[in-house]
Amino acid sequence: MKEYNTLDDVDVTQKIVLLRVDFNMPLDKKTLTILDTTRIKRALPTIKELIENQAKTVIIAHQGRQGSWDFTNLHQHAQALEKLLAKPVQTVDDLHGKEAQAAIKNLKLGEVLLLDNVRKLDGETEKKSATEHAQSPLVQHLYPLADLFVNDAFAAAHRPQCSLIGFTAVLPSCAGRLLESELETLGKVVKQPLKPSVFLFGGAKFSDVVITIERLLDNNTADKIILTGLPANAFLKAQGINLGQKNEEILSKEGSPEQYKEIKRLLNKYSQNIYLPTDFAIEDNDQRDEITTEELPSNKTLYDIGTQTIKQFKQVIDDAKTVFLSGPCGVFENPLFMEGTKELFNFVANSGAFTIVGGGHTVAAVEQLGLDDKMSHISTGGGSLEKFMMGEKLPVVEALKAAKKRMK
Ligand code: 3PG
Repeated sequence: MKEYNTLDDVDVTQKIVLLRVDFNMPLDKKTLTILDTTRIKRALPTIKELIENQAKTVIIAHQGRQGSWDFTNLHQHAQALEKLLAKPVQTVDDLHGKEAQAAIKNLKLGEVLLLDNVRKLDGETEKKSATEHAQSPLVQHLYPLADLFVNDAFAAAHRPQCSLIGFTAVLPSCAGRLLESELETLGKVVKQPLKPSVFLFGGAKFSDVVITIERLLDNNTADKIILTGLPANAFLKAQGINLGQKNEEILSKEGSPEQYKEIKRLLNKYSQNIYLPTDFAIEDNDQRDEITTEELPSNKTLYDIGTQTIKQFKQVIDDAKTVFLSGPCGVFENPLFMEGTKELFNFVANSGAFTIVGGGHTVAAVEQLGLDDKMSHISTGGGSLEKFMMGEKLPVVEALKAAKKRMK
């Protein structure tokens, strides 16, 4: 018996269901078009189950963060969903106002409506309890119109945000099929990881990575940590390496002086377990060129790990029984800089280890490389997956557990 309800525990037939999904997509930076629809595909079992049971499905989702370049409306998400469902998906550029309320009231049995990007609401990302969030205009205006709240947003399960937990305080609530299956599969890996285990972190975010790494090493969940992308740059900077103005500028958008102190402390504590790149790829006259760490600072952006690093990291991964991939090793969207990601992801896919892949860009890279069938578990989570792997409680799951107790 699970501590939270699933779709098996509730009757959705002809009900008005508020469904929170994670449709936060990797977008092309120039065109802002969706690069990969994995997260939408993975939400389909829940959406199809609701449609088959003639529920009226009201989908709530987010894309990007206020102020970020990938903060867009959800029109193309609706189009992608429509295509995958082979069924119309209604949209409304509103969240809880008159237009949204009318659209919900006008829904017919089996129809699907996607509301606007929920992060347009100022209070959405505030860290509050479910009961506090339940007082928000979003919850207060929408919950009287609905019968049930279903949360299928595993990828955002680490965020105690309004649309993710607020409804659980006032509506019967349960986990969708995706959230349920992620928690089941990953729960087994966290309890008994096959050793040695290597965790590879890359990509373009690093604020949450520092605490994740320390916890994974403290808990003995991870034996070795490999860093690429922005996390690697941050760790090199913390070691006192000057990366060059452009690279430092990119880092300064994410990192604070306190964070670099923390990284330094972590590096001293676990100097034997953390592996950093020793060379990088840069662009020179539209060609890939490589430079070593000794050649830094560079006035060019570091776009990928270099050949020497790829070789060294393969040796680190060689005897691993569990490998966790979170974040590509470079700007893999550009063929000049996909080398690191291609080489290491291929190596991992063919290593025979239990492989877990997480994060929108990581999954997109795995799909692009045609490696999806070779990975053991492709998670839709990035940050949430990391938190789960390090043994942290996920606010979304805790809220669903509380809702189950309340429903009893
Ligand atoms: C993700 O993509 O990791 C989730 O959608 C959460 O996004 P966030 O980091 O902007 O909260």
